[in-house]
Parts: sequence; C-alpha cells; structure tokens
Amino acid sequence: MKKSVPGNLNFHFRPTIEQRMTTDVAPAPVPLLAREQIETRLKYCSRLPSLSTINSALRELLNADQRYTSQVAEIIRRDPSLTARLLRLVNSVYYGLATPVNSIEEAVFYLGVRQIRQLVMVTPIIEDFQKLAGKAPFPWRDFWQHCIGTAILTREVISALRAPTDEVDYVAGLIHDVGKIVLAAACPEHFDAVYHRNGSGTRNPMERERQILGMDHAELGALYLKNHHLPDALVDVARFHHEPQRAAHHVHLVAAVQIADLLVRHAGIGTSGNSEPVSDDDWFNASGWDLLFPHHHDPENSESEKALARANLKRSLDRLPTILEGLV
Ligand SMILES: [Fe+2]
Ligand SMILES: [Fe+2]
Repeated sequence: MKKSVPGNLNFHFRPTIEQRMTTDVAPAPVPLLAREQIETRLKYCSRLPSLSTINSALRELLNADQRYTSQVAEIIRRDPSLTARLLRLVNSVYYGLATPVNSIEEAVFYLGVRQIRQLVMVTPIIEDFQKLAGKAPFPWRDFWQHCIGTAILTREVISALRAPTDEVDYVAGLIHDVGKIVLAAACPEHFDAVYHRNGSGTRNPMERERQILGMDHAELGALYLKNHHLPDALVDVARFHHEPQRAAHHVHLVAAVQIADLLVRHAGIGTSGNSEPVSDDDWFNASGWDLLFPHHHDPENSESEKALARANLKRSLDRLPTILEGLV
C-alpha cells in the first residue's frame, strides 16, 4: 500500500477515500516571494533558532557556579545560529570598533555572561519551531554536523596557505549555509516545499530554492548577514560559497569554504540537505583550488602545494566523524 499518511504515525493505517484524497493531492503551491517581501520576513526573524542539545548544554554551563569564557565559547562554536547572533550582538554593542569582532571567544569576553545568558534565554529551538509549524522533520543534528565539519576543514584548507591569525576562517565555514536556517525560520512553508516535497521538478535543491522562493540559500544567507551587520568576509562567504570565482573580495576564504563544503559532502559526513552525490572529481577539481594556488604564479610549485593540501585534508577527514560525534 502506498504510504500516504504524513507525520510520524508509527502504526499501520489504511486511509479512507476522503483521507486519501486529502493526502495524495499535490500540496498547494507556495507563493514566490518578491525581494521586498523576503527582506521584510528577514527583518522579523532576528532570532535564528539553534539546536536543542546545544541550547541545554549552554544553559547548564551558564547556571554552573564556575565557568570560563573559553568553555562558553566552546559550546557556541558548535552552533551556526548562536554564533551569527553573538557576532551580530557584539558588533552592534561595540559598533565602530576599528575591526569588527569575528572571534567567538573575544565576543563572549566582551559581552559577559549576563548578556550571553539573555541571548540563550530568547533563542528558539529549531526542532520546536518545526513542530509548531507542523512541518515534516528535517535532520537538523546532521545539518549541524555538516556546518561544524565544514568549519573544521575550512581552517585546515586555510592553514595550507598561512597560519590562521583569527577565527574568521572557522566562523565562515560554520555559517556558510546559514541561509538554510534562515529559510526554515523565516519561510517555513518554502523550506518545506524545497526540502520535503518530492516529485516537484528539478532535483537540485538550489534550483528548487530559486524556483520556489525566488532566491537560493546563498543569496538569502548573505542578505541576512548583511542586514544584521555581520563582517563583510562572512557575507561574501555565504553569498559565493558555491561559486567562489564570482567573489570580488575574501577570495581565499570563499574558496576554502567551497572546498571544505564539497569534501564533507563527498565523505557523507552530516547532511547539507542536498543529497546529490559529490564525486571525488567534483572535489578534486573544485574551482576554489585555482583561486588558492593560482597556476600562473609558479605552475610546478602550485601543483605540489595543491597535492600536499589535498593529502592533509584527507587525513583530517578521517578524524572528523569521531570529533563530530562528541560535539552535537
Ligand atoms: Fe550551500
Ligand atoms: Fe554546505
């Protein structure tokens, strides 16, 4: 019998004709949104939801008799939503700093425990969010792993070029797909149509995002980060992580995130929501490699540097699943 009952009914259930009619018909299409409508929704979506396990770990730590800035930062570092909101907060409170804050630990230090506690108190939980909206569950924990895995590998890629001096590379990898969280939070019906409904034309989720919402997660994420005054480097990464050759600034960072994202997807670590396979070739020949190691500078050297960076990355990749298992 065709499974036609939505939700988590875990008993066998034979639908009546009427029920079959209501469940088998194609769901009503969601309206394509104009850019202004999207911007309005983003304005009212300042509180990006975070993952329940991280939220409770953080609450527990904040209520403990003793805690250190580094411990608080360590937990926030596992959560793209909290990280984005923390950086937004610190950069608006300390507006006008010569260089914007993009280090998580520095942000925690500047804001102090009271403000962090407040931030956590008003943070919605992404799993509740979807339950309220009555939408089919999305594997958010796996998605969080995709984000953290990309962050860890972005740092590895960058360190093949230079010793990282701050945290911007990690943060960039962590929040590169923030547009998908924004989509789920600000336009849940569109998110549902892109990621849950089958048989609706194209298989590529980015194309579906453009067809159904009118904007893909890269553009949406960049718009969100820009509207919330996050550092430009992060906006550029969100915008161009699938096409780093189009970035005008922060090219190395954008390229590193593209490579890291492709590698975690290729390895099947976590889920980005895009289940299209990424072949070894896709990763090996990603456009970002030539941006990081331009061929025209010194062809021989650039090839050997690329080879070394790829070998190091593959080694880090082996340790990644074990690291991630303990984090979310
Ligand atoms: Fe993406
Ligand atoms: Fe991604």
